[in-house]
Amino acid sequence: MKELDRHEAFELASPYPYTLAVTLDKRDRPNIIGLSWWMFTSWSPLMIAISVGHERYSHECLEHHKEFVLCFPSEGQEKDAWLCGTKSGKKTDKFQETGFKPVHSKLVRPPLIDGVTVAYECRIVNQVETGDHTLYIAEVVAIHGNPEKINHLYSIHYTKLVSIGSKGDIRFDLKYQH
Ligand SMILES: Cc1cc2nc3c(=O)[nH]c(=O)nc-3n(C[C@H](O)[C@H](O)[C@H](O)COP(=O)(O)O)c2cc1C
Repeated sequence: MKELDRHEAFELASPYPYTLAVTLDKRDRPNIIGLSWWMFTSWSPLMIAISVGHERYSHECLEHHKEFVLCFPSEGQEKDAWLCGTKSGKKTDKFQETGFKPVHSKLVRPPLIDGVTVAYECRIVNQVETGDHTLYIAEVVAIHGNPEKINHLYSIHYTKLVSIGSKGDIRFDLKYQH
């Protein structure tokens, strides 16, 4: 064993499942953020937590409207998924700038993203301050998916995306990286 700095450790422990959280801003305009800090926290009821930096536009959105949709972008969506993790919605309408198509959710107001592998509709029930991020803890109220879109995206540190499928198929040649 050797001692590592956080960058070496993040890279070594990669990949992490890369998700997109769709929120609503105070004008009811949907925004999308790229997130790798998410986790399931409960099986019954099914619950998910996401950690969002205080400076993110998505933080402002979640403080305004306490719902989000957590989407797992599929292979082929990497260019648009990367934009959502590198540009702020403060200045950009990410649905307009990407090719992402919003689809009405069943029980929450933020929309789903068409063509993702899985989308969880979530309603926030609690939140915890943790350093420079807020942990939003939410109950899953509906789930959607595309069973034919097996391959979805994982991040290597914060530098690139790879695609891995639930059948174990791995592609490391995706183009979107710093
Ligand atoms: C691979 C990757 C993972 C990320 N994970 C998170 C995360 O878990 N939480 C977070 O607050 N920001 C995360 N970010 C950064 C945000 O996606 C980025 O700052 C984005 O531009 C914020 O958009 P917004 O200002 O519209 O909310 C990540 C970025 C990348 C590239």
